[in-house]
Amino acid sequence: ASAEIGVIGLGVMGANLALNIADHGFDVAVYNRTEERTREFAAGAGELSSKIIPTGSLEEFVAAIRPPRPVIIMIKAGDPVDQQIAALKPLLENNDIIIDAGNANFRDTMRRFEELKDTGLTFIGMGVSGGEEGARFGPSIMVGGTEASWNRVSDVINAISAKFNDEPCAAWLGENGAGHFVKTIHNGIEYADMQMIAEIYGIMRDGMDMKAPEMAGVFDAWNSGPLDSFLVEITSKVLATGDDKTGKPLVDVILDAAGQKGTGRWSAIESQQMAVPASAIEAAVGARSLSAMTGLRAEAEELLGRPDLGRFEVGGNAAALLEQALLAGKVAAYAQGFAVMAAASKEFGWNLPMPIIAKIWRAGCIIRSRFLDEISEAFTKTPDVANLVMTPEFSRIVKETDTALRTVVAEAVRKGLPVPALSSAVAYFDQLRRARGTANLIQAQRDFFGAHGFERIDGKGENHGPWNMGN
Ligand code: 6PG
Repeated sequence: ASAEIGVIGLGVMGANLALNIADHGFDVAVYNRTEERTREFAAGAGELSSKIIPTGSLEEFVAAIRPPRPVIIMIKAGDPVDQQIAALKPLLENNDIIIDAGNANFRDTMRRFEELKDTGLTFIGMGVSGGEEGARFGPSIMVGGTEASWNRVSDVINAISAKFNDEPCAAWLGENGAGHFVKTIHNGIEYADMQMIAEIYGIMRDGMDMKAPEMAGVFDAWNSGPLDSFLVEITSKVLATGDDKTGKPLVDVILDAAGQKGTGRWSAIESQQMAVPASAIEAAVGARSLSAMTGLRAEAEELLGRPDLGRFEVGGNAAALLEQALLAGKVAAYAQGFAVMAAASKEFGWNLPMPIIAKIWRAGCIIRSRFLDEISEAFTKTPDVANLVMTPEFSRIVKETDTALRTVVAEAVRKGLPVPALSSAVAYFDQLRRARGTANLIQAQRDFFGAHGFERIDGKGENHGPWNMGN
């Protein structure tokens, strides 16, 4: 048994991970449900083929790996993972490690971890971000499981991960579901980032009459400033790409109905479960859902009419204001995502290391950016801060971008341009920084109809109102 690790599932992600492992000098056993795919993969591995051990059965696969055996499963999330675990279980031995590298719901990961507990086997839920390219040349890797199981795989995982200033963008983040939870929040933030970029694009397209190539230039310029990020970079590239068939910008011929596989939605659901608002992520998930209702939107445009309220006018440098507004929106989304992780960390006893999470997101993953380098610095200086916006660095950004965010959202609303995620950021900041809010009225109402009681601000006296007296 010479393989250091095994990979089950040779779809694009699994195949690329296996090549990445081989590329770093480790022997890797591979197995796929259809043997034909395994053969094809091995045949196409070129000079890496000496490191790849193709196997035709699970027995052969398991026998090829050095114990305790780490087995990466990279297949469709959900039932197939349970079936794969069931098939592997009888073949594995004490201390072998099943690693689910797909986008699993962390609650499934927790369950699988528990289910394997008494078998002598252990489980790692591993979030992998970076798409196909990342899997092949360096993803960001978020690991949850026992520390002992991490120690068995850390050499390989660190080696194949992306690097930021030579530091691996991979880390053990805590027990059981910690890695998949963090990956889920990563994706929730990814959704918010993408939605806010799309809202800015909508303002440029529908409010400023800009064409895709012109917008590409704006995003490209932003990619050298505080918004420097993978998503802004690819946005610029997308906008600059033409369609072979029509000669139009490609983006103009793509149907405006966004897909989603679940991770963004889970982020929003879990944030609500934790009672920590993630309104930017929720707005992004909701916007994808509404985008998919293409028929309803067409009918509604007919029935309600599309507001034609004139051009988006902010006076002066609109691009600079949009840039600042996007930055402000990002602050809200990331602050919310990290706050949800802090709450989950307490609830599940993970002790999630916020500075390390920010660090391993600096390279390899989809949300990698200059901004994350700043977040990692802020959390390194103040690891226990209650909310990212309370750090000196980010409170400064919130203040500096405040006028831009407000101006952009107000003008977009005035002109009928939808900005659900950006406007959620304004509302979030405005509620956050108002020490005396309006929930006193809600408490009175609750007490009125349900005798739920309330606290007084002076701590004195009765905690019920006289609502029913005299009725
Ligand atoms: C990543 C991505 C990746 C994938 C998700 C998002 O971090 O590499 O998040 O995991 O793109 O599946 O998917 P949806 O947009 O389809 O939900």
